[in-house]
Amino acid sequence: MTQLTKIALLFALSLFSSTVNCKFPKGFKFGTSTAAFQVEGAWLQDGKSLSAWDNLAHLPGFTSDGLAPDVGADSYNRYPEDIALMKSAGIKHYRMSIAWTRILPAARDGSPVNAVAVEHYREMLKAFIDAGITPYVTLIHGDLPMLMYLHGYGHADKYFVNDFRYYADVCFQRFGDLVKNWFTFNEPWCIAVFEGCKPEECSTMPYLVAHNVLLAHAAAVKLYRQKYAPSQGGKVGIVLNTDMFYPKDATNAKDKEAAERALAFYLGWFAEPIFSGDYPAVMKTKLGKRLPQFTEEQKAMLKGSADFFALNHYSSVVCEDGRAKEGNNYWNDMNVSMSNRKEWKLTDMGWAIVPEGIHDILVEIYKRYTRATGVPIYVTENGMANKETTREAGINDTPRIEYYQAYLKNVERAANEDGVNVQGYFAWSLLDNFEWGAGFTKRFGLVRVEVGEVPVRIPKKSLIWYRDFIAQNQ
Ligand code: BGC
Repeated sequence: MTQLTKIALLFALSLFSSTVNCKFPKGFKFGTSTAAFQVEGAWLQDGKSLSAWDNLAHLPGFTSDGLAPDVGADSYNRYPEDIALMKSAGIKHYRMSIAWTRILPAARDGSPVNAVAVEHYREMLKAFIDAGITPYVTLIHGDLPMLMYLHGYGHADKYFVNDFRYYADVCFQRFGDLVKNWFTFNEPWCIAVFEGCKPEECSTMPYLVAHNVLLAHAAAVKLYRQKYAPSQGGKVGIVLNTDMFYPKDATNAKDKEAAERALAFYLGWFAEPIFSGDYPAVMKTKLGKRLPQFTEEQKAMLKGSADFFALNHYSSVVCEDGRAKEGNNYWNDMNVSMSNRKEWKLTDMGWAIVPEGIHDILVEIYKRYTRATGVPIYVTENGMANKETTREAGINDTPRIEYYQAYLKNVERAANEDGVNVQGYFAWSLLDNFEWGAGFTKRFGLVRVEVGEVPVRIPKKSLIWYRDFIAQNQ
């Protein structure tokens, strides 16, 4: 029996699984999310060059299981299987990313376009669309070309903005007839904080990286709006990540300030420039000259540079004032101690499961950024790593169903009770995939993937549950 026949059978036999009582607003979009580097494999196929992560993943001992995603889920070649799985579950929205290393193997501004890769993505996008699945495309999700570090300074390079704008231009031009929802970057916070810095540069480097990424985002959005949006009619934004931050002791003013400061240093760092035109006041005061400044022209370009608010959210923490040890760096600058409440259960990543956190962060975002602008919110990632060391445990992923039920109930509550204009939700992830430094040891998928020369996809209970949930909420 082929893999696809097995999948079809499992779906046909599965009973309508019980779901939490929710009623989402009409037209609400339910989808799944992946990223090129985490699912594509095909690391040397069709003229692709290497990303910095290709290099890292091949360093001995760098990933927890010693594996690199050279083949991984092989979605580059096996996307028809992904489409079949999504279709059978009634999932009509798919967030994916394009690999810069495939489109522009030489990476930089003006470098030649790899026609084979362009053709590949066009075929793939068409196949999704033909299956009734709308693509939402992130231009870069964690896989910056290695050449940007060999011939430059990565995201902090003085040419980065031009390089990114050129890459974005190529993508808008080649795929804009098929893609109507674009995201420039995934999680600039992670880019800035995890990019790494020499000890003597850590007091400024994260802020410089963030600044460049924000300017590159704004440049790409301006280009899209001027050159492509009028004829292509698409929308463009950026994906921001944040936890929900609670004061450890809600009656303690210092803890309350700490929670507010954490939100500013995580989300406000990017959301304030994009929705209000400048960095949060608390960061400007704290960092002084170490925080780069925007010119008036740049502020104007940034303000309003997102047609939707795209949020990745997984967990929550409680905050106390104070953490700073010696030296200026991002964490000392924020000066917040974070921990979990004792009663919170943890996922296999060690992240706390706090379903009301997604409600509370959506309400914060609505109040601060989207109520005034009318910009819709999409939850572009949410999900959990479940301990699934055997196939059996993988398929019977009840904790994941409970997580999704509880988090989705809270998204619905934000929409229905608080009037938050949240219009979409993308589960992370469709597939078990390469979880960066954790290799393949952490499983986030609605579909189990057993990696090897020929990766095997097996739908989990959570996929069947999601199918039924979507059906009840359409
Ligand atoms: C990232 C994904 C990652 C997920 C789980 C998100 O922050 O966008 O690439 O796999 O978290 O760690």
